[in-house]
Amino acid sequence: MKPITEHPLRPQFHFTPPANWMNDPNGMVYYEGEYHLFYQYHPDSTVWGPMHWGHAVSRDLVYWEHMPIALFPDQNGTIFSGSAVVDWNDTSGFFDGGPGLVAIYTQMEMIAGTDSSKQRQSIAYSKDNGRTWIPYEGNPVLIDERFPDFRDPKVFWHEQSSSWVMVLAAGDRLFLYRSPDLKSWTFASEFGAQEGSHDGVWECPDLFELPVEGENEASRWVMIVSIGDAPTCSEGSRTQYFVGCFDGTTFTNENTPNTVLWLDHGRDNYAGVTWSDAQGNDSERLFIGWMNNWKYANLIPTGEWRGAMTLVRKLSLRKEQQGVRLIQNVVDGYRQLRLQGIERSNELLSAEGIQFAGLSGQLEIEAEIELMMAAEIGLRFKSGDKETVVGFNAALAELFIDRTISGHIDFHDEFACRHSAPLKAKEGRIKLRLWLDRSSIEVFADDGGLVMTDQLFPLDGTDCIELYAIGGKAMLRTMRVYPLRSVYAA
Ligand code: FRU
Repeated sequence: MKPITEHPLRPQFHFTPPANWMNDPNGMVYYEGEYHLFYQYHPDSTVWGPMHWGHAVSRDLVYWEHMPIALFPDQNGTIFSGSAVVDWNDTSGFFDGGPGLVAIYTQMEMIAGTDSSKQRQSIAYSKDNGRTWIPYEGNPVLIDERFPDFRDPKVFWHEQSSSWVMVLAAGDRLFLYRSPDLKSWTFASEFGAQEGSHDGVWECPDLFELPVEGENEASRWVMIVSIGDAPTCSEGSRTQYFVGCFDGTTFTNENTPNTVLWLDHGRDNYAGVTWSDAQGNDSERLFIGWMNNWKYANLIPTGEWRGAMTLVRKLSLRKEQQGVRLIQNVVDGYRQLRLQGIERSNELLSAEGIQFAGLSGQLEIEAEIELMMAAEIGLRFKSGDKETVVGFNAALAELFIDRTISGHIDFHDEFACRHSAPLKAKEGRIKLRLWLDRSSIEVFADDGGLVMTDQLFPLDGTDCIELYAIGGKAMLRTMRVYPLRSVYAA
């Protein structure tokens, strides 16, 4: 195996498994100074297969230490997605009165001679800070065989009603359950059959409360739901969210049922959920997603590893004209990776562009551009004669990523594409924050109100960035480019 820093497409500050296949982030929990990240893992191959929970821990969300596999397939099936909690008051009785970690996950067992499976919820506990896990002898703890898709439990402690709450995906809707002890679960309500996008099967829900920033407003509950790839849907797998209230039993969406709110307008942010923490004190809502798309996930041209996570993002809520909306900002921890930055300001931009050459493929960029008369402004990430473009089209008022000629594109018909999302210039300016990590780009606009996450596979690594304006001039107000150190650097 090549050293991890030498593969031109291997992410250098995004989480990747040591080798082989990874999909959804699972069981994220913060406990005794450590952030735990578990993930859907196939240790024997670079394509999806019998699922395990891989495991890593970090103290700063940037540097991760790989741990042994946490959960293995057993007589109840393989280990699908789920969550983990700190059982502070030993409601489960697993911990002799003290606190400990409990994981709640789906077990999938194929029904012999068919394409169908049984999907049931199990639990396991750890008395040694997540190092080893003991599956509960009473597994599975939640069975309902009426539903072929019945998975991805996200559990949290609901302080106001002193109960555990589980939200679970069941095909085209979510089911909510309550439990006093994580072992016995009672159906509470359902949500969503008539709301939001149903382009694909619903998966990987999350539900949590957040204050509304800087407003004299009641806090809101946010429900995140990923929707799986469907052959008819060119976007493939995507993640939507709902905003509303939750009374311990029922979640009520405060937008109209046909409102669809996308968590990310790029192609590669799926199955993301948030860290569950400690003591019901959830003021820091930290999110991570699987930076991939089921449309081509098994085909991406990586190497001995396949799959990466997004950067960790802090979530908040902001009141907009249309209603309360989710805001995402990358956590501050990544700043420790900044190397000597380059700064430019007050330069006119035209079609020829300003070039930044000789950069590494790992960059953080902040740019503020005044549109003036330009029809379009943007950044071209160049690799030889190939490029990926991140731009803003003024007439259409949209931010876009164009990866039609980004490099390796032949592995799937629908990978090469241009996609966009509505964005309004503020006071005639566009402000962008971008993170490039060899084979991915995350673009944040509107102070975290609009995010686009995409994979790209440049043939020779990105060697130059070009800032341009077309159809009229624009003014680069400020731009800072920080090359970022690899987390694997000595
Ligand atoms: C989402 C998902 C989950 C399931 C897991 C299986 O990507 O399909 O619904 O639990 O992946 O690996």
